[in-house]
Amino acid sequence: MSPAAFDLETLKAELSGKNPRLILKTALESFDNIALSFSGAEDVILIDMAVKIRPDIRVFCLDTGRLHSETYRFIETIRNHYGVALEVLMPDPAGIESLVRQKGLFSFFEDGHTECCGLRKVVPLKRMLSGLDAWVTGQRRDQSLTRIELEEVEWDRALAAPGQQLVKFNPLTHWSSKQVWDYIEAHEVPYNPLHRQGFTSIGCEPCTRPILPNQHEREGRWWWEDDAKKECGLHAGNRQGNP
Ligand code: ADX
Ligand code: SF4
Repeated sequence: MSPAAFDLETLKAELSGKNPRLILKTALESFDNIALSFSGAEDVILIDMAVKIRPDIRVFCLDTGRLHSETYRFIETIRNHYGVALEVLMPDPAGIESLVRQKGLFSFFEDGHTECCGLRKVVPLKRMLSGLDAWVTGQRRDQSLTRIELEEVEWDRALAAPGQQLVKFNPLTHWSSKQVWDYIEAHEVPYNPLHRQGFTSIGCEPCTRPILPNQHEREGRWWWEDDAKKECGLHAGNRQGNP
């Protein structure tokens, strides 16, 4: 199906509160030109579900150049375990070189993560999305204040190219962290070894730290910034309300 022929409101009503596998299956059956985003963390369960529905599903990961070595190894574990041709997207070197020349390698601690995330994540993601009709993410409502209005399916107007109609599926919207980890255990899904060292939400190495018991799972991400700013631009439509 093309996004132009897609009745999002009807599908949204149909998928409301449904289980992640059904949402994912509907997404993969509705769009040929669709890909799954994989962050190298617990959202691997979407790959586990997707390969059983469509073994040739496209999966991509944004390599910011600043991931933990454990995450790079884990990405390759997933490539081999599921036999997927994981697409690892790199940032444009000219933009990164210019930022580092002007501000050094850790400018985000001084003036926030928006600029670095923009170059290392958002630009390559937009390049990828410009060739797709739909994409799938592992976001959940309970991850962040910025995600409390997340829907199972929505238009991605924040990252669509001019004139592009882009659909975004969030099959794990209503799942809790516990449900994700129950699935990992029950289905023997491989997981990033950093999770055993107190890391819950895993992003880039300099901007992620382990959390203590009872801290919220994203407190270890960009911990020097306000909770309301803890979106890096990948999900820019969140909270402001996707127009
Ligand atoms: S982030 O925007 O704060 O970094 P988070 O780590 O919570 O996002 O992950 C939410 C979802 O965004 C993941 O389930 C995945 O779909 C997507 N995502 C995040 N980081 C990446 C990445 N490096 N590569 C591909 N997708 C990613
Ligand atoms: Fe840069 Fe940190 Fe964003 Fe990674 S998470 S792209 S290192 S600011």
